[in-house]
Amino acid sequence: MQFADRLKNVETSAIRELFKLLGKPGIISFAGGFPDPALFDAEGIAQAAAAVLKDTPGPVLQYGATEGYGPLREQLSGFMANKGVKVAPEGLIVTTGSQQALDLIGKTMISPGDKVIVEAPTFLATIQCFRLYGADLIGAPIDADGVQVDVLERLIEEHKPKLVYLIPTFGNPSGATLSLERRKRILEIAARTRTLIVEDDPYCELYFGKPPPPSMLALSGEVPGSRDWLAHCGSMSKILSPGLRVGWLIAPPALLANATMCKQFSDAHTSNLTQATAAHYLTLNRLDGALAAVRKVYAERARVMAESLQRELGDAIGFNPPQGGMFFWARLNGGRDAAEFAQRAIEQLVAFVPGAPFYAAEPDRSTLRLSFATADLAKIEEGIARLGRAL
Ligand SMILES: Cc1ncc(COP(=O)(O)O)c(C=O)c1O
Repeated sequence: MQFADRLKNVETSAIRELFKLLGKPGIISFAGGFPDPALFDAEGIAQAAAAVLKDTPGPVLQYGATEGYGPLREQLSGFMANKGVKVAPEGLIVTTGSQQALDLIGKTMISPGDKVIVEAPTFLATIQCFRLYGADLIGAPIDADGVQVDVLERLIEEHKPKLVYLIPTFGNPSGATLSLERRKRILEIAARTRTLIVEDDPYCELYFGKPPPPSMLALSGEVPGSRDWLAHCGSMSKILSPGLRVGWLIAPPALLANATMCKQFSDAHTSNLTQATAAHYLTLNRLDGALAAVRKVYAERARVMAESLQRELGDAIGFNPPQGGMFFWARLNGGRDAAEFAQRAIEQLVAFVPGAPFYAAEPDRSTLRLSFATADLAKIEEGIARLGRAL
């Protein structure tokens, strides 16, 4: 069969190959990117789903508006207001997960050969998605405070990219959080150079200690002209449940209108049943309690992972303990190759993801990602001890 030329730009992810090995009995996996299902507020979601089916069966089982289910857009407007973002319900669209928001941005903004700057490393699915639209991806280096702004500014001036894609808070895979000062500087650069910044923000609620800095969208009010150059993707996946497939996109009106048009041709609209369920859930006053529980569990798992890594791998590995999110990003010292380490780790019945695929260009082959979200404390200690034996 003759497939479309655009498929030549992408390959099946290296991670997918690794995941085939995860079925081995007894394996402890830090490889996944899923939240812990034991922490889903299934009772609250069941209550919300039952209520909307009983009270509004017609609208929730019917076709709906491409822009999103009205009551959810209103709830999300309020949800964002609590995070310092002024957005009317009409200023956002609901998407089928934030993954779809990223796809719609790719579809509406990227022509073959367009330059796009992403963090090095960044979310693998975004690399693949933007490549499918023919993007020429350029990596901007990061450190513990997120993307290095001086380098980013230079890259923007040199390449004049179509857009810059950032995960400023508890990045996947980096775990890094962009400092307040850098957020503001990037907004200034965006306004001055008229460069679209895409802020992907699914992890901001998963903080362990103090909350992270406000989103760039929240800060855009302080930087004149910057909001015109900012798109923001939000998601219920790490807050409530990824299976609901509810995300949202806030963007300048022309971009939002084009994204809505493309969504119409793609899936017509996101499931009304899950949108209505999410909207009703947000009225139940359960979210704060559920999130507090998730933060506590993840914080403890991250603490134990940091201690175990230090104890079992010592000087062989370097990392900055994350302050939230679901991931440790680590680097093997002495030029060791993380993919070879991953193979030895599988033999010791422990899995993680080597870091190379998360780079759009010039991978650092000593890096790796460990998720602490789904393993309990005993498994984390045992799994990291196995990693120590695989060194
Ligand atoms: C950085 C980032 N963006 C977007 C997504 C997509 O999430 P969803 O489509 O479930 O909202 C993920 C999922 O892991 C992610 O890590």
